[in-house]
Amino acid sequence: MRRKLAAGNWKMNGTRATLSEIEALQKLLPADAPDVLICPPAPLLIPAQQRAHGTKIAIGAQDCHTAASGAFTGDISAPMIADTGARHVIIGHSERRTLHAEQNADIAAKAEAAWAAGLTAIICIGESLETRESGKTLDLIAEQLAGSLPDGCTTTNTVVAYEPIWAIGTGKIPTLDQIIEVHDFMRETLAARFGATVADGITLLYGGSVKPDNAAQIFTAQNVDGALVGGASLKADDFAPIIAALAAS
Ligand code: PGA
Repeated sequence: MRRKLAAGNWKMNGTRATLSEIEALQKLLPADAPDVLICPPAPLLIPAQQRAHGTKIAIGAQDCHTAASGAFTGDISAPMIADTGARHVIIGHSERRTLHAEQNADIAAKAEAAWAAGLTAIICIGESLETRESGKTLDLIAEQLAGSLPDGCTTTNTVVAYEPIWAIGTGKIPTLDQIIEVHDFMRETLAARFGATVADGITLLYGGSVKPDNAAQIFTAQNVDGALVGGASLKADDFAPIIAALAAS
């Protein structure tokens, strides 16, 4: 059985005061909660880890460099992230791809750096509205999976998140059929490359405007194993019902 995961991406939001949401969330978690992850901004990794200690909530990072150390002002490396106690890192989020010009090859190199530090890479893919409207979504997904996932993906070192760019932070979500189509395609594509056993065990997340009122429907898709949640992960009162919907799915 593959693991269900509810991952929250705080993006560039939050200060130490926001960490009270972690305690609030812990109190709201159902007894049968799936894996829960919060990815705060880098300065909060250590205090977030301290707050989450002893709870079911894990802490992860939002990006890492390809190198372990060196003259890369402003960047953080995978071993540094691991040193905070984090065990996950988001890689290739569309905001990194678009605003920092990250290419598939950069993302694959970052995933390998994450693995080398013992981290699980949450590798993000997803199409723009233009690609969706031109009918080329699955071609792009195939290209991103081929280019962004290194050889050597396993059920423990990799999670893949499908996040249509046009659904991120917009309140728009694909239809359930569109989500099913892409997630089924991802599972088949992973099976062709890594074998059915690995592909069946890799957790696949949907991300993009997941909210308390749409989560349950999204989680009915057989190949959706969880969510990568932006805005709604900032408040325990919004994230908790999404986690409960995943637990019930
Ligand atoms: P959103 O962000 O939930 O605010 O749409 C999702 C994401 O970017 O991971």
